[in-house]
Amino acid sequence: MSLSSLSLFPATQAQIIESRRRTFKEWGRSMTEEEYLRRDAEMDNDEHAFNRKLITWVLCSREDPESLEFKCSCETFRRKGLVLRRNSEQPNNDMPEEVTCYAIASVFAPERFRHRGYAKHMMRLLHWVLALSSSLPSTFPEAWGFPPERPIWLAYGHFSALWSDVGHFYQSCGPTTSDSEGWVVRDAISTVWDLKAGDMDVEDVSVSGRGLQWLSAGDVETLHSVDDQRIMVDMAAMSLHSNPGETVLFSFLPGQGVETFQRRRLEHVWRKFKPSVEYWGVVRESKCPTEPGATTATLDKQTSIATWTFDLKPPTLFVTRLRANKETFVDLVSALKFVARKHGMEKIEIWNLPEAHKKIAQDYGAVHMERGEHLPAFKWNGAESPSNVVWLNNEKFCWC
Ligand SMILES: CC(C)(COP(=O)(O)OP(=O)(O)OC[C@H]1O[C@@H](n2cnc3c(N)ncnc32)[C@H](O)[C@@H]1OP(=O)(O)O)[C@@H](O)C(=O)NCCC(=O)NCCS
Repeated sequence: MSLSSLSLFPATQAQIIESRRRTFKEWGRSMTEEEYLRRDAEMDNDEHAFNRKLITWVLCSREDPESLEFKCSCETFRRKGLVLRRNSEQPNNDMPEEVTCYAIASVFAPERFRHRGYAKHMMRLLHWVLALSSSLPSTFPEAWGFPPERPIWLAYGHFSALWSDVGHFYQSCGPTTSDSEGWVVRDAISTVWDLKAGDMDVEDVSVSGRGLQWLSAGDVETLHSVDDQRIMVDMAAMSLHSNPGETVLFSFLPGQGVETFQRRRLEHVWRKFKPSVEYWGVVRESKCPTEPGATTATLDKQTSIATWTFDLKPPTLFVTRLRANKETFVDLVSALKFVARKHGMEKIEIWNLPEAHKKIAQDYGAVHMERGEHLPAFKWNGAESPSNVVWLNNEKFCWC
């Protein structure tokens, strides 16, 4: 089928079910198809997805856009993000702006439709519905027919990101026929502790009096909405220290159910743990708060946090969000090791650990490595070149 006879459409309910049936084969893992469909249907009502935040898109014939024989599909999650444009003349006035952005997931073509350029075309068309129109070329490529119809309720995104399991493929999926204007891979770096390899540096930190406070799932959710505010303050401060060529900073925010999604989608895994999981995060208060009246609820800049989820194959505790300083990082690592061991995890993994902590992590048994999967990749919908754009907080919490 010619590419011009196809277009991008928000999926009907029947197409959503069909796309999930297809992806089940790839990502169903230990679930039955029924469990997989039920889990996804339940998560449609979660904060990060409801109210049209989650849209399934299909690449389908223009003649029959509701057909279940669509060529491929993907999902987009509308999210809140922050963008800070640096003003080199008055850097002290740089303030982050809250913007709409998108996370993209579940790009899938069934075997029978693969290697015909369908997934690439779908991803290329996605820019024409998600991106700020000012960032798009003035004309739609003629060879592709008419542009996809943009739902009027869809907000324009200042940036989007995906986590590639197919290398740099998405870089070739730009809004034009050029093969280089798509999503750019950035910092696929993991810090990993292998707990199997005799790392016995574990103590019961629950009683160690290090000023640690365990967090329930509810506490973690509250914490992340406060963290959103903190990230804004940090971003303004970071702008002052970034390199001259770095003209734009952006970040996803962990609140509004975004970090929570990391736990929800793996509930079928950790629900079976014995002992059951009580804690999903830890806070270490500062010993001497510098901000008067600061408490956990206000997350002063001295407060350190780590939140996590669990995955299997191999059993791993994934840190979803980390905020620490040099003094507190070691205590958080002890807490992570304690929790990982308690639940029989073989690994602890952190994405993009700040440089300041890398040496300490190594001293405490970690290795740093470039991942071959889940490569974070972003598309910046602005005039700036990707090399001038900084992705802050490129951590596990925003993965989807
Ligand atoms: C990835 C996928 C969507 C591509 O669909 P498609 O319609 O065949 O894609 P296109 O025809 O537009 O492009 C194919 C190109 O994608 C790239 N590609 C596909 N799978 C790849 C992989 N596993 N690793 C690296 N590149 C890959 C290759 O460059 C391939 O070129 P080829 O056809 O010459 O081999 C499809 O293979 C799929 O659904 N895979 C299983 C699910 C998956 O891994 N999704 C990606 C999650 S990030």
